[in-house]
Amino acid sequence: MYRPAVAAWTKQTLQDHFFKEAKKQGYVSRAAYKLLEIQKKHKIIRPGAKVLDLGCVPGAWLQVACQQLGPRDRGGLVLGVDLQEVKVPARFCDDRVKVLQADARLLTPEVLLEFTSDGFDAIVSDMLQFTSGVNDVELSLDLAGTALNVATGCYYDMYGEQFEQQVGFRHSGFLRPGGNLVMKVYEGSGTTEFIKSMQPYFTKVARMRVEASRSMSREFYAVGLGRKAPGVHGGGGSGKAKR
Ligand SMILES: C[S@@+](CC[C@H](N)C(=O)[O-])C[C@H]1O[C@@H](n2cnc3c(N)ncnc32)[C@H](O)[C@@H]1O
Repeated sequence: MYRPAVAAWTKQTLQDHFFKEAKKQGYVSRAAYKLLEIQKKHKIIRPGAKVLDLGCVPGAWLQVACQQLGPRDRGGLVLGVDLQEVKVPARFCDDRVKVLQADARLLTPEVLLEFTSDGFDAIVSDMLQFTSGVNDVELSLDLAGTALNVATGCYYDMYGEQFEQQVGFRHSGFLRPGGNLVMKVYEGSGTTEFIKSMQPYFTKVARMRVEASRSMSREFYAVGLGRKAPGVHGGGGSGKAKR
């Protein structure tokens, strides 16, 4: 009888814990703990990696991603993109963190080529549109579909031809073979199909709910591990990425 109440209490306590812990540790938001948990389980970002962070404001994932790059002499890059103005947090970020104020849905290969000529080792998307909650599942799939498209060139067919014409990554995308992809998704109609659409492109696909998500939230993270070389999967592109 008491279990639901106890579970809610435990979750609330954990959330307060993440908020307080973020402040104490110098992360700009509790979102840091979401990526830290995903990283702990799946080792998304390796030392010296090139990372694309879509929807990066206020910057907690930039902080965590930069920490994972290891010492400065290992190299690496974290490119943060957001609709809003992006300020790079001083704590945990160094000059390997670059930012761009842009709509990820309108990113072009030419823009990304200014930051990397050979793609990214990891692409993470925590993009979220603030809404009344009416069609948030659909909006989350739109944004996750954008991240999947940037990563692999896979066109996730939600809006038909009109959407397809807006994007420029229809061939192989910007995620290197062996690279990893993380996308925030809201559970609901269409999410199972979305996860299925990832499968041809990755060695392993997983869904992950994280402790730091708010208790009422339907969010989870779709994780694609070990991108297959373009041409190995069923859809889009062959040989070298056409960007
Ligand atoms: C939950 S916040 C991200 C938090 C971030 N991961 C962090 O650690 O601080 C979601 C972000 O997605 C951004 N966003 C939403 N739609 C976007 C789009 N189409 N292109 C780029 N950014 C977008 C929002 O502006 C917002 O800053």
